[in-house]
Amino acid sequence: MELVLSRFQSIGIDIEGTVALLGAHSVGRVHCVNFVHRLYTTVDPTLDPDHAKYLKRRCPTPDPDPKAVLYSRSDLQTPMILDNNYYKNLLKYKGLLLVDQQLASYPTTSPFVEKMAADNGYFQDQFASYTVVVGEQPSY
Ligand code: HEM
Repeated sequence: MELVLSRFQSIGIDIEGTVALLGAHSVGRVHCVNFVHRLYTTVDPTLDPDHAKYLKRRCPTPDPDPKAVLYSRSDLQTPMILDNNYYKNLLKYKGLLLVDQQLASYPTTSPFVEKMAADNGYFQDQFASYTVVVGEQPSY
């Protein structure tokens, strides 16, 4: 998490901004190949066991063909809406990527996860502002 935070910091995004931008993972999907290591051979203890069962049905083998279209939606409730359900899921240990789930446990990021989970309007304002900051970066 330190590395992720410092990379974002280097482009002018602070801790709250990093938490807000990762909220983009509220939409879309993750291919099995990117999270099976959290399912096999033992289930990552920071993953909700029932959710792990569901994910194992989506991703039945520990070594998925990287070209296979095996994936899970990031947010099962509102998969194509940019909203704070992502953070609510993190608080329920239903993050798909390790980087997602770690936001909820890392001491400097977890208060912002709670804040975003509690207030969708706040999340959306933060997401919009920090997206502008990303857009202000010079292109290399
Ligand atoms: C530490 C930073 C990040 C990491 C490590 C990361 C990693 C990933 C990974 C592994 C996937 C799944 C790809 C797949 O399996 O198809 C993904 C999906 C996605 N990411 Fe990120 N991401 C990061 C930050 C961001 C940010 C800042 C945004 C936008 C503001 C973003 C937007 C998305 C979206 C929209 C998807 C879904 C794509 C789809 O449905 O095809 N991510 N990300």
